[in-house]
Amino acid sequence: MQGLSRLTSPGVLARIKMENKTPGRHWGRELFCTVEDSGFCTVKESVIVLTKVPRGTRDILPGDIETWQFFEEKVRELCRLFGYSEIRTPIFEHTELFLRGVGEVTDIVAKEMYTFTDRGDRSLTLRPEGTASVARAYAEHKLYGDAQPIKVYYIGPMFRYDRPQAGRYRQFHQFGVEVFGTSEPTLDAEVMALSLVFFRSLGLTEFTLEINSVGCPQCRRAYRDKLQEELKEKVDGLCPDCADRYDKNPLRILDCKNNKCQDITGDAPLMLGSLCGECDEHFTAVQEAMDALGEQYVVNPRLVRGLDYYTKTAFEIVSPVLGAQSSIGGGGRYDQLLSTIGGPDVPGIGFAIGIERVLLALEAAGTLPEAGGVLDVYVATAGAVPAPVALRLAMDLRGAGLAAEKDYLGRSLKAQMKYADKKQAKFLVILGDEEMQRGQATVRDMKDGSQQDVALADLVGYLAGQVKEAK
Ligand code: HAM
Repeated sequence: MQGLSRLTSPGVLARIKMENKTPGRHWGRELFCTVEDSGFCTVKESVIVLTKVPRGTRDILPGDIETWQFFEEKVRELCRLFGYSEIRTPIFEHTELFLRGVGEVTDIVAKEMYTFTDRGDRSLTLRPEGTASVARAYAEHKLYGDAQPIKVYYIGPMFRYDRPQAGRYRQFHQFGVEVFGTSEPTLDAEVMALSLVFFRSLGLTEFTLEINSVGCPQCRRAYRDKLQEELKEKVDGLCPDCADRYDKNPLRILDCKNNKCQDITGDAPLMLGSLCGECDEHFTAVQEAMDALGEQYVVNPRLVRGLDYYTKTAFEIVSPVLGAQSSIGGGGRYDQLLSTIGGPDVPGIGFAIGIERVLLALEAAGTLPEAGGVLDVYVATAGAVPAPVALRLAMDLRGAGLAAEKDYLGRSLKAQMKYADKKQAKFLVILGDEEMQRGQATVRDMKDGSQQDVALADLVGYLAGQVKEAK
């Protein structure tokens, strides 16, 4: 028995770990007792297998990584065109940053953070999203002192402890952009348009951009009172999450997916009807700029989003092919975020796209790009040709900029050829006893099977020319 820990409810109340004394793949078992939202306790058992990733995480293997690299190349290409530079921030931050930045009453902060105490007794959290970290970096490095706006993008893992399902993971990846230094409405339109251009550049055509304005703290305060007044007598009918939100975060009740909550809030006043003059003008100007770009969007007055920092523009891009986890990206303006975390009073806007979800959407639409072979030349040996000869040739080919590989397993020529075919090598070089004696090697074009004897001294130059032609 390894230990018994008590945690707060709802969630895991106690966990007992039982170590398996015989060494092997099964480290042991754990019994844990979870307190459900309903207040009931459930006892569950799970086996800890050392050769299995933790729940909600995934490996990205060779064969799949090429698609990720294709995605990342598109990100870098488009961000360059739109004037964004890359930023890399730490994977973990002080917990307080997310409490203040994202908001203590959001689901992300209240239920989903991976928070731990380090050996120096500091509370740290694996980043659940990128915006707060980037805002922190902007303030810390006084980027407000540089020419504005500052446009940055990031690609990287985020961590949320949520119930895993298709399209929802505990470690997932986002591509995000953030812009600081102006609240000009054409920027809102440009940021949204960038996300749409990006999806289209990947070959995704079926998605909808939903937009809303969630106002500023002033008009939202008045609206919040109005909404609470409207729902005052109906709280008991709301789902447990929304009943909880009534006091803490009533706006979120509007975009609850529960049918009962949707019925109850069906006639509730909406934020768009309570915008102050400035927020109203801003929202109109954003729509005008989107119209001028010819970009399609739907105004969804119930769109609230799950992070507390948004002001004015909020948006989400949804894919019809993904089922429950349909949001492939989302973002909005956050004009108070920097001052909330102790930085200057500088406005900002951005979005983040869930990479796994976009790849799932591409797969569902059948437009996922095929991973092409990456091997230019496979060097095979036959007869008594010593392996170092093949090694030397592979090194020379690499030196000339060609992706080259050789055999390391002492395979027969037939098996080497089969391997080269499997790896989709463009060319195969055969170093055989007879050919070597003549000072030649055989080059086979794997696409059409044609063969040519080439002098050893010319081999690298010849292959470099052939590969260039084949590209
Ligand atoms: P978010 O809506 O929480 O916004 O996340 C953005 C996207 O990340 C979602 O639309 C979804 O595609 C993906 N995503 C979120 N959670 C998961 C998960 N558990 N598994 C897989 N994918 C997930 C933000 O994170 C904001 N920081 C966006 C932003 C940037 N707003 C302004 N700037």
